[in-house]
Amino acid sequence: MARRKKIYEGKAKILYEGPEPGTIVQYFKDDATAFNAEKKDVIEGKGVLNNRLSEFFMTGLNTVGVPTHFLKRLNMREQLVRACEIVPLEVIVRNFAAGSLAKRLGLEEGTPLPRPIVEYCYKDDKLGDPLVTEEHIAAFGWASQQDMDDILSLSLRVNDYLSGLMYGVGIRLVDFKIEVGRVYDGDYQRLIVADEISPDSMRLWDIETGQKLDKDVFRRDLGSLTDAYTEVARRLGVMPKQATHVAKPKLIN
Ligand code: C5P
Repeated sequence: MARRKKIYEGKAKILYEGPEPGTIVQYFKDDATAFNAEKKDVIEGKGVLNNRLSEFFMTGLNTVGVPTHFLKRLNMREQLVRACEIVPLEVIVRNFAAGSLAKRLGLEEGTPLPRPIVEYCYKDDKLGDPLVTEEHIAAFGWASQQDMDDILSLSLRVNDYLSGLMYGVGIRLVDFKIEVGRVYDGDYQRLIVADEISPDSMRLWDIETGQKLDKDVFRRDLGSLTDAYTEVARRLGVMPKQATHVAKPKLIN
């Protein structure tokens, strides 16, 4: 049996060389990390849920004309994606104050923002992905002005699509993070949505009850992460048959 070539192993995913040039196999792990990996756990079933949810969001985006790296799902934990050159930025879009923005500006979590706010963080785990401005991005050459215009319009289109989709199933899209990558078509370069879109990288609150259905459940010890992600998948009609996550039996003393 031939061994696959591992390209990269991150906190939640492993990338392997794909079957054809220009393709990559993206494997979703069950590992959950928070606070730049200070808090860690293995959450059984998370990788399967995120693989399916990311497929669902990326396919939907492709359908409405927002280009993504997603090609096809291969199995429960793996998907085939287009290889691209990742722009070293985490692009965050916020509709309501939460998390680091709420803390930084002293806003109450849940405060509606006057308009969607787009923020950029420099992708560097050692530095804890610090917030940067367009000045830093231009000065250090992480992205060109044209890239920044494209990233802004791409991220706002993703926001419109995801907000509407979530609203339709009674979920508020508080904020999310995407990554973008460059692909080359002859003389042209295009930017596409890359990495993953899942409850690991979004804040999702039930509109009625405010219940958190995203990674904050893990970050803040609010209960079962797989139950929360399964609920999101169930409402969106993803994995309807496997929508009941059965927890492992617990030993009783
Ligand atoms: O922590 P903060 O409030 O800045 O996060 C904003 C949004 O970006 C959240 O939905 C969070 O899950 C996501 N995020 C992420 N990966 C990071 C930082 C933030 O997915 N490294």
